[in-house]
Amino acid sequence: MTTSIALYVNGLSVNFGGFAALTNLTLEIPYGQTRAIIGANGAGKTTFMDVITGKTRPTKGEVFLDKSVDLTALDEAAIARKGIGRKFQKPSVFEALPVEQNVELAVRKGQGFAAMLTSSLKTSQRRRIEEVLVTIGLVEERRRLAGTLSHGQKQWLEIGMLLAAEPRVLLLDEPVAGMSDEETERTVGLIKQLASPDRAIVVVEHDMDFVSRVADLVTVLHEGQLLGEGSMDSVRTDPRVIQVYLGRS
Ligand SMILES: Nc1ncnc2c1ncn2[C@@H]1O[C@H](COP(=O)(O)OP(=O)(O)O)[C@@H](O)[C@H]1O
Ligand SMILES: [Mg+2]
Repeated sequence: MTTSIALYVNGLSVNFGGFAALTNLTLEIPYGQTRAIIGANGAGKTTFMDVITGKTRPTKGEVFLDKSVDLTALDEAAIARKGIGRKFQKPSVFEALPVEQNVELAVRKGQGFAAMLTSSLKTSQRRRIEEVLVTIGLVEERRRLAGTLSHGQKQWLEIGMLLAAEPRVLLLDEPVAGMSDEETERTVGLIKQLASPDRAIVVVEHDMDFVSRVADLVTVLHEGQLLGEGSMDSVRTDPRVIQVYLGRS
């Protein structure tokens, strides 16, 4: 059986005016895998996601989707259309709209607010909205304004809005930061549910217990460089990782 590679990153470097945020980073993330990227603040984790999504251009190196689509040649909108969805650290839902309409907007994609008022949903779109609400566990909250949700619920809603596009690569930056233990627990379940043979999930997170429960493989970054890669158990016991990261927290 061959595993197909979702993200192929080779010799990636990013400099910000002489400051090396990422240096010669090489890694592959296959479909079907949930990969965690860990490392201290400033390690380059968010910059890595910025490069994948076209927000930041690499100074050097290759970044491919499916080993064939050169992501460094595409802009953010084009990369999103290729099926790469990203959740930023801070949730950004439409607070003044009900939960359901947030998902509706995402399902309608480019159609926008005007279409929501004037054109009716296709059956397939209606079904997708229901599926997303069930997946993110917000069926009962569907009529609530998104602004009244808890922090955790907003995070799930934003993940749901990404799911509307059925992403093949899902990037989640600190999904459980600020969540209660119970919300974190539910997010573990959500991410396990989102994992599929046709999807790669990349999670940046500081909560090591959470990482050990969702990640198939862990990549450790340190000052923009690859420090180690392996199972959470092997990474946890790697002396270099302990010294520069885990031992400090
Ligand atoms: N646009 C930018 N301009 C200059 N420096 C930046 C920029 N973005 C990030 N950095 C720096 O790059 C380093 C890596 O940042 P970041 O990727 O956000 O780390 P992490 O997400 O691992 O905490 C940090 O030292 C940060 O200050
Ligand atoms: Mg970050």
